[in-house]
Amino acid sequence: MTGIRNIVVLTGAGISAESGIDTFRSEGGLWEQHRVEDVATPEGFARDPDLVLRFYDMRREAIQTKLPNPAHQALARLDAAWKGELLIVTQNVDDLHERAGARRVLHMHGTHLNAWCTACDTRSPWTGPMIDRPPCPSCGARALRPDVVWFGEMPYEMDRIYGAIRQADLFVSIGTSGAVYPAAGFVRDARELRVRTLELNLERSQGSHWFHESRQGPASRLVPEWVNEVLGG
Ligand code: NAD
Ligand code: APR
Repeated sequence: MTGIRNIVVLTGAGISAESGIDTFRSEGGLWEQHRVEDVATPEGFARDPDLVLRFYDMRREAIQTKLPNPAHQALARLDAAWKGELLIVTQNVDDLHERAGARRVLHMHGTHLNAWCTACDTRSPWTGPMIDRPPCPSCGARALRPDVVWFGEMPYEMDRIYGAIRQADLFVSIGTSGAVYPAAGFVRDARELRVRTLELNLERSQGSHWFHESRQGPASRLVPEWVNEVLGG
């Protein structure tokens, strides 16, 4: 991959599937077990906060027992070796990129590591079951919610993401169905900016036709192969 200096990588639930974390829209995925509008929207939280807090306590506990897989490890190797710009934009709330050693990671949908106080708007480490209504470390109010972006809410750091895409020579999408915006639109933004685009996904996604190249297979194989290519290994 000659002439590549600045890379943006977008990851979705599929990169963590082989670590044992459920995806959302694959068979048996999270959205078959729970109604999105009940557990991943502000309206659902207002309607039944206990249901939402139990859902995210369950997801947090499930994530904590999982380990990075070869796809996360390959991206961490790229991050350590890459002399140009690299930004790993993840839609995932797990911290497997960081636990594999990646540093240049941006969680556009937040993470399961932090709680967000709806009374004083500060973030703090999520240290225990939120269903127990722990007090906010800053203001003491029992008003914490997961620091996760829900449907209808704005993702984090969109300006930084679009800025990185504008400077990119290569945009790589890994393990995402291309079902949710604005992440699903990044490939179109990249194409309009004449950025080279590559998709690595288990099967063709809703956005596959937008990519210059789309490779199908498990991330644990495709991502190490691609990192070897781009590092010239
Ligand atoms: P939405 O109201 O933004 O969009 C609804 C649907 O309209 C989308 O699902 C998509 O099919 C379509 N759409 C949206 N923008 C489009 C566009 N520019 N072009 C064509 N079609 C478009 O609701 P949403 O997409 O379901 O979610 C919106 C926000 O919620 C996004 O910011 C997303 O990042 C966030 N989100 C977070 C999570 C999470 O669990 N962290 C889950 C889902 C969504
Ligand atoms: N290797 C590569 N890709 C995989 C693997 C794997 N082992 N297993 C599954 N996939 C692919 C699936 O084919 C699917 O295209 O990963 C994608 C997962 O899609 P979704 O379950 O829709 O997850 P994602 O794209 O991350 O969802 C986007 O929607 O509900 C919200 O918060 C959620 O941030 C998420 C957003």
